[in-house]
Amino acid sequence: MSPRTDAAVWAAVDAEAARQEAQLELIASENHTSREVIDAVGTVLTNKYAEGYPGRRYYGGCEHVDTVENLARERAKQLFGAGYANVQPHSGTQANMGALMALCEPGDRVLAMSLDHGGHLSHGHPKNFSGIFYEFHSYGVEQGSERIDMDRVRERALAVRPRVLLAGASAYSRTIDFAAFAAIAREVDARLFVDMAHIAGLVAGGQHPSPVPHADVVTMTTHKTLRGPRGGLVVTNDLEVHKDVNSRVFPGGQGGPLMHVIAGKAVALREALAPEFTDYARRVVANASVLAGELAARGLRVVSGGTDNHLMLVDVGSTGLSGAEAEHVLHAVDLTCNKNLIPFDPRPPMEASGVRLGTAAITTRGLGPDDMRRMAGWIADVLRAPGDEALAARVRGEVAETARAHPIYA
Ligand SMILES: Cc1ncc(COP(=O)(O)O)c(C=O)c1O
Repeated sequence: MSPRTDAAVWAAVDAEAARQEAQLELIASENHTSREVIDAVGTVLTNKYAEGYPGRRYYGGCEHVDTVENLARERAKQLFGAGYANVQPHSGTQANMGALMALCEPGDRVLAMSLDHGGHLSHGHPKNFSGIFYEFHSYGVEQGSERIDMDRVRERALAVRPRVLLAGASAYSRTIDFAAFAAIAREVDARLFVDMAHIAGLVAGGQHPSPVPHADVVTMTTHKTLRGPRGGLVVTNDLEVHKDVNSRVFPGGQGGPLMHVIAGKAVALREALAPEFTDYARRVVANASVLAGELAARGLRVVSGGTDNHLMLVDVGSTGLSGAEAEHVLHAVDLTCNKNLIPFDPRPPMEASGVRLGTAAITTRGLGPDDMRRMAGWIADVLRAPGDEALAARVRGEVAETARAHPIYA
């Protein structure tokens, strides 16, 4: 390693590394990548300008970064059974920008999951490019079941007549029926765009049905359940869509690709192609199922009654806390999570009535079902007695012991 002369930056980096080791990460959109992914991201590839695509660049000297980008593209295609892949988006939001620009024109109608019910900012928030440039309409979950009802989505689609139907969410814990979305899109003559940012690793590991055979275009992030570096990725089986996505990602929404991050994506995609990744994805889902069940058994209401994937929304109303307060109380015992609106939430987003919990990161460091049972106990206990310092100290000690027993980077 090179000499570390920038003491201020490295002190913060080392402190963050220590924080990650010491706390148990329940933020559903985070994960711990492998050392090899981190090594790839920290390479000289960051020096290289490579505007364009492999074989067609605007700069010389791209022969080696072409190799890296081709490896990433081929692995993405193989992993998701897709005909074409674009691995350049700097983030999930930029992948979505490329996909939307490829599928429709500014001002067109897009029907997407309501942000209040689990949709993402890039699915039509008025301050995001999506809400600024397109006319977004929404579908949500049903009161009672707290699940997407495909008959209701169809009714909305028939009423709105969108150019693009968007499926995918940031805080939805149930299996999404992509075939049903595709049938609705066909019926109303819309293009189907699936954003599988959260569940990409579960799709890769065979734990959630794939949208790839059904959608015109599929975007994802590489850093959530897929366990790669931060970034976006787009796959499709349609050559024309692929060409449009390519020109909308670059030069449409970005300049030069982050070749060091694309190297990290290539490494992560190879890891996801290995049989152990299927086992990982299975354990993520199994852990989430146990955690949700045990929380419910301790009297905490889990939205929609449980989970089919890696995340769950927990309604903390019965504890008398808001979601923001619950996040704070859990953070104080080194369990990191985020406050989250629950469907039909009477509170504003910065308070919220729920927390979102995910098992992707804690499964990476090796926690299993017994740990989930203990985790549910810690969560329920501290949320019910937020001022109890002795309890907090005991739980903090048990969390620390569990974290030490499962180092992330040994
Ligand atoms: C469904 C969904 N799409 C897109 C994104 C955006 O990813 P990024 O933060 O990389 O822009 C997220 C991130 O949480 C997400 O949950």
